[in-house]
Amino acid sequence: MENNGPLGFFDSGVGGTSIWKEVIQLLPYENSIYLADSRNAPYGEKPVKEIIALCKKNTDRLLEMGCKIIVVACNTATTNAIDYLRSNYHVPFIGIEPAIKPAALSSKTKFIGILATKGTLSSALFSKTSELYKENITIVEVVGQGLVDLIEQGAHESPEMELHLRTLLKPMLIAQIDYLVLGCSHYPYLLPVLRKIFPPGVTIIDSGEAVARQTRKVLAENNLLHEAGAIGKHTLFSNSDPAILSHLVNAKQNGYTVSYLEF
Ligand code: SIN
Repeated sequence: MENNGPLGFFDSGVGGTSIWKEVIQLLPYENSIYLADSRNAPYGEKPVKEIIALCKKNTDRLLEMGCKIIVVACNTATTNAIDYLRSNYHVPFIGIEPAIKPAALSSKTKFIGILATKGTLSSALFSKTSELYKENITIVEVVGQGLVDLIEQGAHESPEMELHLRTLLKPMLIAQIDYLVLGCSHYPYLLPVLRKIFPPGVTIIDSGEAVARQTRKVLAENNLLHEAGAIGKHTLFSNSDPAILSHLVNAKQNGYTVSYLEF
């Protein structure tokens, strides 16, 4: 296996850049390629078979571009397809899982909230994880219906988003959760609005840093880690409108290449 290939990332759209940002910050000498499958967003309402087929398409494209590892920067794709990917390809895969464990272990009210897609909350992997904590903790699950669509349109800080979130999150506010777990890689872009909605005592956690640390660990274990050399180059592709992707990652200011690609 080449160890100078880029890190490959894919997501159902622009949201996985929340994960990608953490990874490239921790691993500054790595090059990366990011595929935003925005044309097929959201994955969260699709049948498992279709999610797997989309993950396969994205993986094949990243491998054609020489990626040495693949970060599945999408919770729905991870919970539904990571086993398939690991069994059918020979590169290492990093997935994201909602950070239920740290929230459950730190909660004082014993009520924690999880905001995720239908596909994630109904997956076998998610029920296995949440079962571990259900004895001591009440997990208030909310499906983020419509959120990914609004984020994909660039409306993550719009009044429409705030209104929609205030309605969706009522059960968590009533339950007085003290931890909110973001179980979708799109949702970190909602942080400014979520901070307006929840009282200051509510801690909001996502999985970005944990995924970055895991990526570094897996690269090191496979002798694929770049720890020195030139600062990495980053190329991002969207199969829909690349302008939103470009805006979210501040491409111009940061010198990232963002363009349209058919995949
Ligand atoms: C979606 O495509 O529905 C959301 C992506 C995710 O679960 O991270």
